[in-house]
Amino acid sequence: MLVSPLRSLRVRLIVSVVVIEIVMLSLLVWSNMGVIRQAHADRLWDTATSMLEQIATTSGGHLIEVDYATLEEYLRNIADHDELSYLMVLDRDDRPVVTLGELPDVNWPEKDSQPLEVTDGVLDISRDIRIGGQLMGQVRMGFSLELMNRAIDSARVRSIAIAATEITLTILATVFIGVHLTRRLGLLANAAQRVGAGDYEVAVPTEVRDEVGMTATAFNHMVAEVSQRTRHLEESLARERVIEETSIDGMVTYDADGRILSVNPAMQQLFGYSERELLGAKTSMLLAPVSAGKDAGEDFSSSACWTQTTGTQREVTGRRKDGSCFPLELYIGHVAINDEPLFAATLHDITERKQAEHECHNLLEGNRFLIHKSLAVQEEERRHLARELHDELGQCMTAIQADAEIIHEQSKRKDTKVATSAEAILNVSSRMYDVVHTMMQRLRPSVLDDLGLVAALEEEVEAWQARHPDIDCSFVKSGELMGLGERVNISLYRIVQESLTNIAKHAGATQVKLNLASRQQAVLLDIEDNGRGMDINKPGRGLGLIGMRERIEALDGTLTVNATPGRGVSIHVNIPLVLETPV
Ligand SMILES: Nc1ncnc2c1ncn2[C@@H]1O[C@H](COP(=O)(O)OP(=O)(O)OP(=O)(O)O)[C@@H](O)[C@H]1O
Ligand SMILES: [Mg+2]
Repeated sequence: MLVSPLRSLRVRLIVSVVVIEIVMLSLLVWSNMGVIRQAHADRLWDTATSMLEQIATTSGGHLIEVDYATLEEYLRNIADHDELSYLMVLDRDDRPVVTLGELPDVNWPEKDSQPLEVTDGVLDISRDIRIGGQLMGQVRMGFSLELMNRAIDSARVRSIAIAATEITLTILATVFIGVHLTRRLGLLANAAQRVGAGDYEVAVPTEVRDEVGMTATAFNHMVAEVSQRTRHLEESLARERVIEETSIDGMVTYDADGRILSVNPAMQQLFGYSERELLGAKTSMLLAPVSAGKDAGEDFSSSACWTQTTGTQREVTGRRKDGSCFPLELYIGHVAINDEPLFAATLHDITERKQAEHECHNLLEGNRFLIHKSLAVQEEERRHLARELHDELGQCMTAIQADAEIIHEQSKRKDTKVATSAEAILNVSSRMYDVVHTMMQRLRPSVLDDLGLVAALEEEVEAWQARHPDIDCSFVKSGELMGLGERVNISLYRIVQESLTNIAKHAGATQVKLNLASRQQAVLLDIEDNGRGMDINKPGRGLGLIGMRERIEALDGTLTVNATPGRGVSIHVNIPLVLETPV
């Protein structure tokens, strides 16, 4: 990728380092030069003032003695100093007595107060010569600044040379590091661009273990991770797509306003709309409004319900493009993407299931009706049989008994053999009558018709208790139990009969509790024993329990059997009380 020179990190790095370096070194040189100049000036000033002081002190005696020759000799020794330009001693009348060096050729210059303020190249200084407060003369000296300026110039040249060397080295180092660094950063940038374009096969070199190398290692890791996640994402998207496309259920996603964002092909087949018609349309158009009387909150034809009811499965009525309606099972889920809710619904056509349910319901109803009818026929047949037994066999037995009685009475004294036979007939017919009577009671307990359910059950329990004296049987009743209706009465009676028979046959119990209660709108019967119990999941071959259940279901009631092996059996019956229909 080409980068303009102005935006190039390499160029900017080098330029900024060079500019900073030049500015900083210039400041350093400038500041150093000031210090060097001041140091030279101070040194010159100290030298000049100490020489002036020394000469002024020493010259006073020579001036008093007017020994100018010794003074000159003394001053000549001193005047050897390289920087001294001129030296002049004047007497008190300002007449020069000793003059050394090159005097200024123009007017006598002003006295200078410090070397850096000198403009004519010579530092002019003077001092009065006094002895005991008496003015004896004056010393005037001039120091050339040439040596000092030369030293300052040479220091400047040295500083500039050092600065230039440093700048050059800095530029070279910056260029080297900059080129090296930016070349590797460039590799990283190129790799990032390729990843952005979807090429996850890139890898940047990581051999140098510096910060850029570590960044490159982290980058390679990141690319591998992104590549793996992208692959997983693509796979899962492909799986979801194939599920959506092959699903026979409609799938739709929509926003918080109920506007459809996507649909699967099944949606078009279910509702008859094209994909273009569905996208952007409102979800509410897919369902029929609920008919009056239903809960308004369930009206999925309003958009609000599509976004409020989530996470549950509902049965609703779909409406096709042609206006026809069909039953649907609707499941709504939602997820938040960037804080915006996104809804997804699955719509399952349950027309066939509904039809099957309807047929099943009808079959069940028919079945119940048949059971009810067959039980009624059975009871009627039993009643008829009991009546026949009573009317026909009962009459005959009574007649046989009466005849046997007469034969017995008349033959008692005449023929003892006949009397014995007649007595035997009498006994047999009496036993037969008892048997027939018991059969009649079982076929149709007359007490049920004569005295009602409670008395019939009490009699049944009493007879059962007499047959099984080892088992303690209690019978508790509560509530209004008269007038439950013949169908309910006979069903409860038969259930008690069968339960007691089962307990005697199978339970091995020592205790039996019967509880019959009438509540407001139901009659409840509980029969519990403490016998060996049974496994209710094990299918049995008997008909007793099945018959009980059929009787109760024919009355729209429920029969529950609770049992665990070793812990007895309890049977709970609940029969809703409705107006009795004739048997
Ligand atoms: N109170 C009970 N205690 C223990 N087991 C019981 C009890 N009642 C029923 N069972 C078990 O349940 C099975 C089914 O009982 P069910 O009355 O339907 O048939 P059955 O009594 O074996 O035969 P049927 O009643 O047709 O003469 C019985 O075979 C028995 O094993
Ligand atoms: Mg049984």
